[in-house]
Amino acid sequence: MSGSNDHIGAASRRYGKATIDEAVARLCGGGLVAVPTETVYGLAADSTNAAAVAEIYRAKGRPDFNPLIVHVPDLEAARKLGEFNELAAHFADAFWPGPLTLVVPKTKNCPVVAAVTAGLDTIALRVPAHPVMRELLGASGLFLAAPSANRSGAISPTTADHVSRSLGKAAPLILDGGPCERGIESTIVAIDGANYRILRPGPVTVVELEEIAGKVANIVDDNKIEAPGQLASHYAPSKPVRLDAHSALADEYHIGFGVVAGDMNMSEGSDLAEAASRLFAALHQADASEKPKIAVAPVPDTGIGLALNDRLRRAATPK
Ligand code: TXA
Ligand code: MG
Repeated sequence: MSGSNDHIGAASRRYGKATIDEAVARLCGGGLVAVPTETVYGLAADSTNAAAVAEIYRAKGRPDFNPLIVHVPDLEAARKLGEFNELAAHFADAFWPGPLTLVVPKTKNCPVVAAVTAGLDTIALRVPAHPVMRELLGASGLFLAAPSANRSGAISPTTADHVSRSLGKAAPLILDGGPCERGIESTIVAIDGANYRILRPGPVTVVELEEIAGKVANIVDDNKIEAPGQLASHYAPSKPVRLDAHSALADEYHIGFGVVAGDMNMSEGSDLAEAASRLFAALHQADASEKPKIAVAPVPDTGIGLALNDRLRRAATPK
């Protein structure tokens, strides 16, 4: 960890009326603003402004083949950007506002610039639930492209401090809304006519999706990268990560779960939602510790555990 915290505080502001006004002015002028959502902090820009979108890719060091999610206030706004068939509308009704991203065909007159969708004819849309992000969408009237607010490939941010440590001066304004409640990125579902595929597991679980729409056609596995951002190595700390570790070696910082105590525990009561909300903070803490390696306790592969294990596998894959 860097010894200098100069940039922290300079960029990060507690959320309030004045900061929202400043954020809106910045966004309308083509600038970037880091903003909390219920999943992780996002790095937002006006999705209809090519220069602003280019700035997101530059700030994150993100490859330009990796498209962005566009955040909108409601389904009505989403329909201006994407075509919603019955199934897509059904999902939107059930889970929006919330941690579900829907990939649907772009509308003919979609005002979002091509760089947001990396030239694809589909668009990823989400109506977030977090009050700060919702206020920013309402006050700006913009459709906000927002990837997670971290350097590309690094650990996702669930606090304002994580954002400033990862992006430094590249995130000139961070709206600080405290820690993100869900702590893990949205579930991404691609609509294929009457069928759907899960491109990224997340807080909305397979069981919840199947309750609404019947059996999922396909959960995309690691080998078939359908969401281009689902790269094998992602969310990666700067140290080697060993998974399924019931105990740790002397040179390992141990992230625990349930009865496997660890140096810190994601959830002593084995609550997977609580573990998800602490996962990235645990990886940040392990990365900042003096131990040169990281070991992580086993996490069951059920419900949101699927998303936890997805992120952990990528964190453990060498770059
Ligand atoms: O919870 C979240 O989704 C957070 C918050 C900030 O909303 N955002 C987030 O964004 O995780 P990002 O950029 O880290 O991940 C976006 C994912 C990538 O895997 C990308 O490839 C995929 O969405 N994606 C975007 N547009 C797509 C499209 N048209 N087709 C398939 N995948 C798409
Ligand atoms: Mg990300």
